[in-house]
Parts: sequence; C-alpha cells; structure tokens
Amino acid sequence: MLYITFLPLLLASALCNLPATIAEKSKRPNVVFILTDDQDAKLNSLDYMPNVQELLVNQGTHFKSHYCTVAWCCPSRVNLWTGKAAHNTNVTNVEKPYGGYPKFAQEGHNDNWVPVWLQSEGYQTYYTGKLMNAHNVVNYFQPFAKGFTGSDFLLDPNTYNYMNPIFQRNKLPPLWHTNEYSTDLVRKKALGFIDDAIKKPDSPFFVTVAPIAPHSDYTVSLNIGGDPPYGVNITPPVAADDYKNLFPDAAVPRGPNFNPDVPSGVDWIAELPQLTAENITYNDHLYRQRLRALQSVDEIVKDVVDKLEQGGVLDNTYIFYSSDNGYHIGQHRLAPGKGCGFEEDINVPLVVRGPGVPAGKVITRSTTHTDLAPTWWQILGIPLRQDFDGIPIPLTESGLTELEESKRAKEHIQIEFWSKSNPQEYNQETEVNSTYKGIRIVDENYGFYYAVWCTNSHELYDMKADPSQMTNLYAVSNNTAAASYNASTTFGRPLPALTARLDALILALKTCKGAKACTEPWNTLLPDEDVYTLAEAMDMKYDDYFAGLPKVEFDRCEEGYIADAEGPVWKEELEWTEGDFVQRSLSEAVWDVNMLARKGRHALNRP
Ligand SMILES: *[C@@H]1O[C@H](CO)[C@@H](O)[C@H](O)[C@H]1NC(C)=O
Ligand SMILES: *[C@@H]1O[C@H](CO)[C@@H](O)[C@H](O)[C@H]1NC(C)=O
Ligand SMILES: *[C@@H]1O[C@H](CO)[C@@H](O)[C@H](O)[C@H]1NC(C)=O
Ligand SMILES: *[C@@H]1O[C@H](CO)[C@@H](O)[C@H](O)[C@H]1NC(C)=O
Ligand SMILES: *[C@@H]1O[C@H](CO)[C@@H](O)[C@H](O)[C@H]1NC(C)=O
Repeated sequence: MLYITFLPLLLASALCNLPATIAEKSKRPNVVFILTDDQDAKLNSLDYMPNVQELLVNQGTHFKSHYCTVAWCCPSRVNLWTGKAAHNTNVTNVEKPYGGYPKFAQEGHNDNWVPVWLQSEGYQTYYTGKLMNAHNVVNYFQPFAKGFTGSDFLLDPNTYNYMNPIFQRNKLPPLWHTNEYSTDLVRKKALGFIDDAIKKPDSPFFVTVAPIAPHSDYTVSLNIGGDPPYGVNITPPVAADDYKNLFPDAAVPRGPNFNPDVPSGVDWIAELPQLTAENITYNDHLYRQRLRALQSVDEIVKDVVDKLEQGGVLDNTYIFYSSDNGYHIGQHRLAPGKGCGFEEDINVPLVVRGPGVPAGKVITRSTTHTDLAPTWWQILGIPLRQDFDGIPIPLTESGLTELEESKRAKEHIQIEFWSKSNPQEYNQETEVNSTYKGIRIVDENYGFYYAVWCTNSHELYDMKADPSQMTNLYAVSNNTAAASYNASTTFGRPLPALTARLDALILALKTCKGAKACTEPWNTLLPDEDVYTLAEAMDMKYDDYFAGLPKVEFDRCEEGYIADAEGPVWKEELEWTEGDFVQRSLSEAVWDVNMLARKGRHALNRP
C-alpha cells in the first residue's frame, strides 16, 4: 500500500517491465564494482591514485557526498549488498551474535541479495577479495556464499594478512598463499574472471573486485585452548615492493579537528587524552602506508579498464569505485579506526564511469550505499524491488542535472551504529558504548550532523559553519555561547526548533522500511503537508507538532539491534489499534495523543 502513491518508483518499474527482446538482452550492460576497505573520502586518499583520477574521476562522475549508513565493514557490506538499511538486515556488527558471515546467512540474506537476484536475471556474477567479516576457513561452506558464477574469497583468519592471504575459490578448499601479496592476487583473479565473462557474450556480467587495501594488516596467531582463542597483531598496511618508498612527505591533513587542544565529541570521545608526538609520528606513518597500499588498487583500476577495452566491452560496462566505510586518523584525538558518526568515517568515495555517465562531473547531492543496489537495478533494466530501502542514483547527464538543480532532492542520510568494541583500531580491548543513531543533512545552503547515543548524549554540528565538527551545538544550545554562536543557518529559528525536527527525522527513519518511508521521511511525519525538506519543515506552524513528538532515546546500550533498548518508535497509523494504549509509558502517551490527532485529521481529509 505504501507504493500506491509512489509515482517515480512505479514509473521506473513500468518502464523496466517492457518486454526485452533477446537482442536487447544481449546488449544489457556489464558492471565492474571495485570495493576497497576502510578508504577515506575526507583524508585525500583518492588524490594519490593517478589511475582512479585519470580513468574514473575524469572519465566519470564523482559523488562527493556519498555515505555509508553504518561505518563498519560487515554491516555496511550487507547494507549495500541487500539494498536494505542495517535496521532491516539486522546484521549490525562484525561478529556473532549480531553480525559476521554466519549472521548474514542466518538472517536469510544469502538467499536474498544482489548476486542471487542478478543471476536470476541472467547475469554472470563474479567476486574476488574480501566478502565480509567472520567468513573463515571453518564456515565458508556452511553455507557457501550463494549467487556466484565464479568466486575467489579472502578468508579469515588471514583476510587482512597482506603477505599470507588465504583464498577460497568456488567450492574448492581454501588455499594458503605464503609470501604472496594479497592485492596483486586479487588483481590477477579479477582479470581472469573478466576474461571468463567476456567469453560468454550472450550474458552480461557483474564482477566485484574487493581488495583489502587500505585496511590495516592483521596477523592472527592461534592461541589453542586459550581465551581469546587467537591474538591479533595490528600493524599498518603493507605496500607492494614497487611502492614501498612513495610519498615520503605525505602526512595526515592537519585540519582543525586533528588532535585538537580542546576535546571534542561526546561521551568517551570527549574524555580522550591528546595524542603524543610519538602517536602522531605513528599516525603519519600509517597514513603513508595506506597511500602506498592503495597503489596496488590503482593498478587494478588501470588493468581492469585495459582488459575491458581489449575485450571490446568497455563502452558497455559501468565501473563503480567505492569503499565499505571511511576512516579517521587522529581527528578528535581518536586513534586510527572507523565506526564513529564523524564525517571522516561516514563519507566514502563513489566514482562511476560507464555508458552515458557524464565525464568529469562532480555531484554534491547526498547518495548512500543503500542506493547502490537500486542504482544497479535501474541501469541494468531490472524492476526495482519493493524491499529496497534506497532509490536509484541517476547516472545520465539529464538525470544528474535534474538532481543537482532540484530544490527538493533527498537531503538526509540515516546513520546507525551498534557496538561496544572500540572504534580505535589500536585500543580494541577497551570496551566503550558506541551505539548511536545519527542523521546527516546535506543541502547546498545548510548541512547538519545530529546524533543521539545509547547513553542519551546528544551532538549537533553545523556542517557549513563547522565542517570539522568541533562545536557541539546541542551542548551550547541552552547557554550563552549559543546566543552568540553564528550558525550558518538555523533558518532564523532557535536551535531547539531545529533539534526537534532532526530528532523527529531520526524517529521516523530508525525503523523505516521500503524506499518511500526511508527516503521521504517528511511525508511520514507530515503526511498532509507539502513538505520535502528541512527548510520547509522549519516553518513555525509545525513547532508544536514537532515539540510534542516523543524524543529519540535509549533505555540502555546494546551492541546489536535489540528493539526494546531503543526507546519510542514511529508507528504507522494503519497499524494503530486501541490495544496499543494499554501498557504505555508517559512519554509514549504524549505520542498517542499526537497520533490520534493526526489520525483524526487524516480521516476527515479522506474522501
Ligand atoms: C599513544 O602512544 C602511547 C605510547 O606509545 C600508546 O600507549 C597509546 O596507545 C597511543 N595512543 C593512541 C591514541 O594511539
Ligand atoms: C534546554 O532546556 C530545556 C528546558 O529546560 C530542556 O528541555 C532541554 O533538554 C535543554 N536542552 C539542552 C540541549 O540541554
Ligand atoms: C557572530 O557575528 C557577530 C556579528 O557579525 C559578531 O559580532 C560575533 O562576534 C560573532 N560571534 C561568534 C561567536 O563568532
Ligand atoms: C555501557 O552501557 C551499559 C548499559 O547501558 C552499562 O551497563 C555499561 O557500564 C556501559 N559501559 C561502559 C564501558 O561505559
Ligand atoms: C536482531 O538479532 C538479534 C540477535 O540474533 C536478536 O536478538 C534481535 O532480537 C534482532 N532484532 C530484531 C529487531 O529483530
């Protein structure tokens, strides 16, 4: 029923449903998806990749406001491979019981994800490199990852061991490569799969190349019978010999949030000590090692383009380049890692080239990993699935121009995260509560990041006036600093009016299901109003309504999606029954009254 009024989706599926003749089918485009691991968009890593610049950025479109929705490998990968928000995949962590490959399979995603769907559409599907966390030498066949014509996966415990990787091909047993460089092997395997695919010109292909760079090197040693059963030695990524000495002068960009004199962030982040000179020397070394390790990925880009060209299919192949999540190094005093809601962690590279994709274009409108699967469906001519939570990213000149010029383009990115492990790679033993819900707003004229943590700490950054996220406006909104703080815009309204809207957005999105609810939250919140953007929602006439909604809050911190720890949720009116009134807390009673008011108004407006 949600889709009945969702015209763009309906139209898209109607168009895609046109019967495809055999001839049309054989012309269906191919995709090569290069997916790196922990690559930042904010620390300039792409600038050090000449082939990415020449062959992808200059020949394609660069999406500068592309975001992962959960800044951690496994949940993020499952998000992009299913087209569903993490709260709908319930793969929210990297390890059991809340995440990892076994949880992915247990939740049924192995039967219901991009490669399986693509195969049923007649696509040849290939994958090499890292699939997801906790995919290992013991569980790789129970079950095998489904949906691949050919696969050659990196497996734990050596997924991140640059010089001693373990690969597992198709249904064969794992093979341990001693003293061979992981990314070079991934490159050779990828080129081999592309060769195989080109030999079958009647069916189009989708090839994923997922090297581990620039993830840190993890050397796992078994501790038989011990607790924990293994030890992990974490060191900076290892570069291939040819690149070992490049960029001797490169260093972590010293932005305002790099190891600041005044602590920033909330909760445990606000308590971090300033980094020592020794820490910073190490961080700069790590930064250079990341850039050096990425050179082998840059080689992959060149070889893939050459291979497609030699095979005569370059003109009919889209190349996507992205990373599962971003990375921070020393920002907000954090040791290297990911998993925070800060821009360094959530903003990730996305560059796309291919048939009809404008060359050298830069897009600043928000796009997310949740949109990738719908985007592939759109360009491959497959009707969009109803369980997708995202919408296709336009890839044509006209579509992109329309997106850039639209006054009502999607401006929000829903961010979610669940964890008790430390998002600082070198402090993993220390437990911290890092579960939070965030919302990032990206617009030409305004930008915000707002988050509610499981400890009920709040943070709000004005991303136009304070892109480094140094001033938590939520903390100052009731004191005098706020009065004189020059936010780039609060739409001429007091800050609490703004936070009430941002809070409502998180409320509407944290349990959203389906493209309409997840991409048009103002329509959920104000169904009878002509409101599409935060600016429109700031109208004073809605102040009472937003002030009266229950606030996003947590009952406790959990490291996975445990619904009863996560406070009030949005209820679709149609699910509303009188029985729901019983057993409700006071804060939810306010909510009930609001819902009733809306329901009444709704009923009156109905013909
Ligand atoms: C900084 O260096 C000290 C001493 O070498 C080390 O114990 C600490 O973990 C480092 N901190 C960070 C944030 O890297
Ligand atoms: C500001 O004050 C109001 C009323 O006292 C309170 O409800 C609200 O939580 C406060 N906001 C912040 C950011 O402390
Ligand atoms: C805000 O702007 C006003 C007027 O331009 C200026 O006087 C004031 O110092 C600014 N406040 C801050 C905190 O920058
Ligand atoms: C994390 O939160 C839980 C429950 O909300 C609490 O019991 C625990 O002490 C917190 N842990 C830390 C390290 O702050
Ligand atoms: C998510 O998975 C966990 C672990 O299996 C389970 O306890 C939890 O109830 C699930 N959450 C939801 C909302 O289904």
